Amino acid sequence: MRFFAAGSALTASLLSSPIASALTTPPELFSPLVASKVLATAKSVRNTFPQYTDTSAGNWQFFNADTWTSGFFPATLYELNRRKTLCGTRNGVGSADWVNLGRAWSTGEIPLETHTGVGHDVGFLSFPFVNELEINPTNATAITAVNNFAKQLAGRFNPVVGCTRSWDSANPDFQVIIDNMMNLEVLFVSAQLTGNLTLRDIAISHADKTLVNHIRPDGGTWHVLHYNSNTGAVTSKVTSQGFSDNSTWSRGQAWAIFGFANMYKRTGYSRYLDTARRLATYFVSHIPADGIVPWDFNAPMTPPPRPADSSAATLATNALILLAQQETKVGNSTGAAFWLDSASQILGNITQLAWRPSWQSLLSNGTVNRPAGNSLTGIVYGDYYFIRAGNELKSMGLVSC
Ligand SMILES: *[C@@H]1O[C@H](CO)[C@@H](O)[C@H](O)[C@H]1NC(C)=O
Ligand SMILES: *[C@@H]1O[C@H](CO)[C@@H](O)[C@H](O)[C@H]1NC(C)=O
Ligand SMILES: *[C@@H]1O[C@H](CO)[C@@H](O)[C@H](O)[C@H]1NC(C)=O
Ligand SMILES: *[C@@H]1O[C@H](CO)[C@@H](O)[C@H](O)[C@H]1NC(C)=O
Ligand SMILES: *[C@@H]1O[C@H](CO)[C@@H](O)[C@H](O)[C@H]1NC(C)=O
Ligand SMILES: *[C@@H]1O[C@H](CO)[C@@H](O)[C@H](O)[C@H]1NC(C)=O
Repeated sequence: MRFFAAGSALTASLLSSPIASALTTPPELFSPLVASKVLATAKSVRNTFPQYTDTSAGNWQFFNADTWTSGFFPATLYELNRRKTLCGTRNGVGSADWVNLGRAWSTGEIPLETHTGVGHDVGFLSFPFVNELEINPTNATAITAVNNFAKQLAGRFNPVVGCTRSWDSANPDFQVIIDNMMNLEVLFVSAQLTGNLTLRDIAISHADKTLVNHIRPDGGTWHVLHYNSNTGAVTSKVTSQGFSDNSTWSRGQAWAIFGFANMYKRTGYSRYLDTARRLATYFVSHIPADGIVPWDFNAPMTPPPRPADSSAATLATNALILLAQQETKVGNSTGAAFWLDSASQILGNITQLAWRPSWQSLLSNGTVNRPAGNSLTGIVYGDYYFIRAGNELKSMGLVSC
């Protein structure tokens, strides 16, 4: 099936798509290199965290804990523990005590509960602690961490704007980036832990404002919105990491699909499912004929080659899997099969392009920030979402380890 067809062709292919019982996924998804590379990095426990690699040898570059990406490596270790549960000792995942490694690596994040400069990205910092609670729901350290990170995000809420503030700037400027949709999950987890429904209301308000202001009629998204903190008015719509102010930055689009599918999962409000579908339709219908997710859907093809973003591809894979799970919940097996098929094609193509046995990262061809000249690297969240995709598909019974 051609998943990049647009408009009515897309609708037609949806109707004819088969029910997915098994998916074609790249064999690398469960390669022994997944466990061995992650373990090699994990063994050098330190107070700095891998974020991206250099572009030639593929060696991790390490950053201090107070960086928006520091939760991803510890969360990767918890994903490998999950894989051990799903796959047994196959493919080298039996070789380590991933939970202890995950705990050791997340300890460096604890001081960020009281002070961090990452702004709205406390949601990402919370990932390994949310994972810890899946293993030990009464772990007081993890409960405190989740609640503290949620409180920090809630403290960034402005009721006039109706959103949590993403990046700091001087009033009346109030910046919200599309990525912020991902950080709302910590509010739901904390609301469940504490019974404080204000946290849930903040997440819903943020998502509703984003739905109205941040998405274009064609289903694409802006990266950065500036609001006036006194009036709540939108003052401009621009980009930070995209090709141009009115282009659609692919990773932002993928954050948005995941964020809205998750909002539907959390609330059951149909407007979020509709929005996730619209965003996902934009994403899959803008993938070019080579099947490779570009760093920005509107960036010119030349001068060649337009860099890919493997992290946008693996993140979108997870977002489409999450969306498929919601379609299944509403009894829409045709929709579920379509998103799963799209997800497996995105994953297959990016793996073919970017799998790098000799690098410390699993994948290359990540674009951290193209305008800043940072592309053609491995990226910690790209690898995290690669591994998580395998786990999700396995837990749905669609692949074998
Ligand atoms: C609780 O989780 C933290 C990390 O979040 C870990 O350091 C600690 O060992 C865990 N404690 C127990 C009793 O599981
Ligand atoms: C619930 O959370 C909000 C946002 O952090 C906070 O302002 C409020 O005091 C909390 N309510 C209770 C009862 O703790
Ligand atoms: C962005 O705006 C420019 C001029 O304002 C226009 O030429 C271009 O087609 C627009 N691009 C998109 C993707 O809308
Ligand atoms: C992928 O990365 C390789 C180098 O690692 C580079 O030569 C190639 O141009 C990249 N392709 C894309 C589409 O980004
Ligand atoms: C099923 O999912 C597809 C894709 O999201 C959507 O276009 C279609 O409207 C859905 N069908 C129903 C009955 O909800
Ligand atoms: C790559 O994408 C093309 C569409 O451009 C698709 O036909 C093909 O199946 C994909 N390859 C893999 C390995 O998924």
